[in-house]
Amino acid sequence: MATSSSTLLLFGATGDLAKRMLLPSLYALHEDGLIAEDLRIFGTARSELSDEEYREMAREALEEYLPEDRKDEDKIATFLQHLQYQALDASTIEGFDDLAAKMGDISGGLSIFLSTAPFLFEPTIRGLQSAGLAGENVRIGLEKPLGNDLASSRVINDAVASAFDEGRIFRIDHYLGKETVQNLMALRFANAMFEPLWNANGIDHVQITISETVGLEGRHAFYDDTGALRDMVQNHILQLLALIAMEPPADFDATSVRDEKVKVLRSLRPVSAEEMVRGQYSSGAVKGEAVQAYTDDLGEQSEAETFVALKAHIDNWRWQGVPFYLRTGKRMAERRSEIVIQFKPVPHNIFAERGGKLLSNRLVIRLQPEEYVRLMVMAKEPGMDRDGVSLREVPLDLSLTQAFSKARRRIAYERLLLDLIDGDPTLFVRRDEVEAQWKWIDAIRRVWSETAMVPKSYGAGSWGPSASVALTERDGVSWHE
Ligand code: BG6
Repeated sequence: MATSSSTLLLFGATGDLAKRMLLPSLYALHEDGLIAEDLRIFGTARSELSDEEYREMAREALEEYLPEDRKDEDKIATFLQHLQYQALDASTIEGFDDLAAKMGDISGGLSIFLSTAPFLFEPTIRGLQSAGLAGENVRIGLEKPLGNDLASSRVINDAVASAFDEGRIFRIDHYLGKETVQNLMALRFANAMFEPLWNANGIDHVQITISETVGLEGRHAFYDDTGALRDMVQNHILQLLALIAMEPPADFDATSVRDEKVKVLRSLRPVSAEEMVRGQYSSGAVKGEAVQAYTDDLGEQSEAETFVALKAHIDNWRWQGVPFYLRTGKRMAERRSEIVIQFKPVPHNIFAERGGKLLSNRLVIRLQPEEYVRLMVMAKEPGMDRDGVSLREVPLDLSLTQAFSKARRRIAYERLLLDLIDGDPTLFVRRDEVEAQWKWIDAIRRVWSETAMVPKSYGAGSWGPSASVALTERDGVSWHE
């Protein structure tokens, strides 16, 4: 078992992620007594700030982003005492010695959270190493973007590997920090009834949807260079797919779980041009409000996709012939992250002669905004059946919000920061996984460029371009909406 670090160092400590997510998460951990009282938290970024000024910035961020029921003035005051700050220009090596001097004794272990512009990865790693901040008792959490294709991700991974061995590198996919995503493993491997059917004999197809109603959210340059495929499918959707499709791991530990996930990712078949849809939102209305087109949000013409739908196949024994329909997009009809497992029909309908129609069972796993698992089963409508048997689909409902109403809902970064500090890599992404993900994504982008595939337009507030509907309907499948 790894030991907890007594020092945490946050790069990008004045940035948006720190204000919205990291500081509120660390505060929540402090409030609940989950981090050591003597944990020292250092922030670093370019701005020249004193400790006091940084604490003031943090106080304002907590004021803005903490939910009201989390705010406790005394606890905020004690939390702020954990924080110290050192300005650093990470592009040059000089400042790292001052950073190390400010932190002083790190013999109790150091955890680093690095979220930075891609061009700063290498100099930052070199700086850390030169200042003695990459030793055996130091681990590093890496926030995306970690490259924008396989080649550039390898450059970053090589740079990090030159200073940290893989066991000390914690690559973040914040979806893995979500309670409901972890619950996928409990659903599959803590219950006996699903596993016997969880294969090509029992399952007709799988759908994974992450739809968002938001647009660019001020990230114009990043998003336009990245697009929906690399922003969402390369990481979050493929991680969900891997958790749904993997073989049962031997243990719930970092090596066993990641060994199984990477096997799935390596079994993904390259996608053909007919099995992919790119989209870009035009003007429309989202939740009753008029919104403008992507290119108007951006202020220029663009061929970036804000929507993508794919028909994926996993070429292994378990999943032969089972399509995985994947889609994600901005400015869609609803915010929803959901996995739908469509089971096969029963072998023979004994009610057919009496007019009883059957629908195949369906398992709906809603990750957000609501959290539930709903198994759709057939039931007989009450009655004397004189005009025939009437059967109806009814939900067997497990609302996680209700079943665990006393448990605090935590944001993903709370769990991930705690696991980083504690040194548990189970919910972080290993290098071989990331590279398998990029390989599959790069092949899709090659098809786009070879076939000059430009995004099709979809009205903001819709479920994407009509070609996305056609992608499933030609297989006789409807998206779950
Ligand atoms: C991020 C993407 O990784 O995930 C964003 O960069 C996206 O574009 C976000 O909005 C979605 O995360 P969540 O937790 O809100 O579903």
